[in-house]
Amino acid sequence: MLFASGLAAAAALFETVEAGKQIVVPEVIYFGTLSWLRRVSERRSFELTLYDPREPDSLARSIKPGKLDIVWIETPVNPTWDVIDIQAAADIVHEAGAVLAVDSTVAPPVTTRPLDLGADFVAHSATKYLNGHSDLTAGVLVTNQIDDRWKEIRFIREHAGGVLGAFESWLLLRGLRTLAVRYSRCSDSALRIAQHFEHHPAIDACLYPGLESHPGHEIALRQMTNGFGGMLSILIQGGAKEALKVATGLEVIVRATSLGGVESLVEHRASIEGPESTVPPNLLRFSIGIEDADDLIRDIEQALSSL
Ligand SMILES: Cc1ncc(COP(=O)(O)O)c(C=O)c1O
Repeated sequence: MLFASGLAAAAALFETVEAGKQIVVPEVIYFGTLSWLRRVSERRSFELTLYDPREPDSLARSIKPGKLDIVWIETPVNPTWDVIDIQAAADIVHEAGAVLAVDSTVAPPVTTRPLDLGADFVAHSATKYLNGHSDLTAGVLVTNQIDDRWKEIRFIREHAGGVLGAFESWLLLRGLRTLAVRYSRCSDSALRIAQHFEHHPAIDACLYPGLESHPGHEIALRQMTNGFGGMLSILIQGGAKEALKVATGLEVIVRATSLGGVESLVEHRASIEGPESTVPPNLLRFSIGIEDADDLIRDIEQALSSL
């Protein structure tokens, strides 16, 4: 089902949760989804619980039996790119009689198919990889069971006005035709960039699930079967000042929000998210596009040399 934005798709699913029920999400997810859940959970009296996906028992421990309705996960997690095991989460959630929704925006269906791994719903911000040209906002919800909840989501979409316009639908179809080649290209380039900068003297760490050193690499190998995508984060040595200096010094990579387009972007997440952000102040998030990988490496090198 198509929606006017990724958040409209997420909101339509959450709208189906009855008062008194529980929604569980990882501590770090796209901050727009978490802000929506935090604000609405107070008003609508459903219980929002955050869990730490790095702790093996954390999901199971956070579940309130009889109350749990939806567990919503995002993988890889923006902007640390931690990887959550979808199959393992689905087993725990189903045992509790609830449903698992996966925001797979960063891992589109060319690389990850959450329904095959046991998820009940998959959400995408189609604004990102599915469209790939940064010229529309759109959202997708996918399921493999047409049940009462699905019918209710359709009702909410229509009656709350979250439909996708005809022109955006046409643009999205155009973008989808090149998804496989775009994703393959940006995955190859991002891996090269991550490998190049992993041990660079001006950076503290490079976070990319395709790196063997990444804590989620083993799960990513199983779950991201056709590339690890174009999203990576670099922790610059120093703090916010140094990270911002590098971001402003880039000449090919553009400083802008959003991700998953043909052009490479950089973003200082902590500034975007504001004082409540838990993102490290020295973190720069890169969305690698389809430009020449050597040009991108040279661009980051020259920006780092200004430190
Ligand atoms: C992982 C993820 N999910 C959902 C969204 C929200 O999508 P939209 O901007 O289409 O509402 C975003 C947007 O950045 C995102 O990164």
